[in-house]
Amino acid sequence: MKKEKVIKIFPSHVSLAEGFAEDLKGLVDKFQASERSFTVALSGGNTPKFLYPIISARLKNRISWAKVHIFWVDERCVPPDDPESNYGMTRQFLLDTIDIPPENVHRVIGEALPDEEALRYSEEIVSFTVSAGNLPVFDLVVLGLGDDGHTASIFPGNNKSFSSGKISETSIHPVSRQRRITITGSVINNAANIWFIVTGASKAGIVSEIFNGDGTSDYPASKVSPRNGVVKWYLDKEAARLIQQK
Ligand code: 6PG
Repeated sequence: MKKEKVIKIFPSHVSLAEGFAEDLKGLVDKFQASERSFTVALSGGNTPKFLYPIISARLKNRISWAKVHIFWVDERCVPPDDPESNYGMTRQFLLDTIDIPPENVHRVIGEALPDEEALRYSEEIVSFTVSAGNLPVFDLVVLGLGDDGHTASIFPGNNKSFSSGKISETSIHPVSRQRRITITGSVINNAANIWFIVTGASKAGIVSEIFNGDGTSDYPASKVSPRNGVVKWYLDKEAARLIQQK
């Protein structure tokens, strides 16, 4: 059965971030009454640098952050104070501005040995999430899209990380050769909610290939298909400009 994709197209990246923040509020609210905490895995890169400040501005006093546990979809194998660190970027643009208990923040230890850290991080994820099919279930996974079709740190040609039975794996950026740690596609597709956020004209080509292609593309992002649930794409007008409206 073809999985449904929900596409939300916004006139600007700011209005996208505002819509995203309100949807996040709605999703977290559903968990406020439940016993357990809301678990979310965030992506890094540049897109979150405008998203996170707007999430903070709109939600810092409207969400009980004590009931939210934050993880990362992937991390560069660098220390937290390295400009490349996804944790460091999230700290700067979001975590330092909200009242979230330190024990609710589960960073990948980028300065550790990658293979050992992938194992440790997998165990930490298991400790704080519910599971289904022997894999952790994040309530929300937020993904970006690389212009080569990668997502998380799963790169084209490295699809072993996509179908891996592991929870997190090490990977290597094909151009910079930077070592990464990433959750696997199996975990991504096990999430209750998967939200992509893609902005800018530079992404229009890859977005159209993924949406207008025949679904056989080898892009890791095109393999994101939640086992139970719907994947939502938050696009600004520029990133969406080549999508053929069917
Ligand atoms: C990372 C991200 C990565 C990112 C895409 C899009 O560690 O770089 O997790 O998957 O989401 O590369 O990056 P931009 O938002 O910078 O375009």
